[in-house]
Amino acid sequence: MIREILIWPDPRLKEKTRLVEGVDDELRKLIDDMYETMYDAEGVGLAANQIGVGLRLAVIDTSTAEDGGLGPMVMINPEILSTEGSIRFREGCLSIPGESEEVIRAPKVRFRFRDLDWNLVEMEATGFSAVAVQHECDHLDGKVYVDRISSLKRERIRKRMKRLKEARAAQAEEA
Ligand code: NI
Repeated sequence: MIREILIWPDPRLKEKTRLVEGVDDELRKLIDDMYETMYDAEGVGLAANQIGVGLRLAVIDTSTAEDGGLGPMVMINPEILSTEGSIRFREGCLSIPGESEEVIRAPKVRFRFRDLDWNLVEMEATGFSAVAVQHECDHLDGKVYVDRISSLKRERIRKRMKRLKEARAAQAEEA
């Protein structure tokens, strides 16, 4: 089922998520919904709190990336172990539609997470995929990429998102 993606700013996007304690049918269903929602929105990653579920869980699929991708892959309780280097990278986010800004990220990252069989998986990612992993872990810590840009740019985006929400609310009323 396609879920509604929360639009920034939203208090639920600012909350730090809870650790997942195990895999059951309910979690599998949630993960299916997250993939469906991410692909429908043509995104490369989606964190559970973007659909209002406060769990430390994200799906990612950067397999179309030119520099070699990751996924499709579900990351349960992901954490970044180490990063290397620094690059400017233009990022977007499904919770901030139509916008993109340059963010400073590490081009190389080591991270670990639990997979669906509850195995602890440790991996390394580079380039676009490394950025995607950092972006999703940020979400799960209650951060979005606009928290990493200048306040001037952030406030401009905040205004546009306010207008977007108003337009969507008006549309919903008409329907
Ligand atoms: Ni995002």
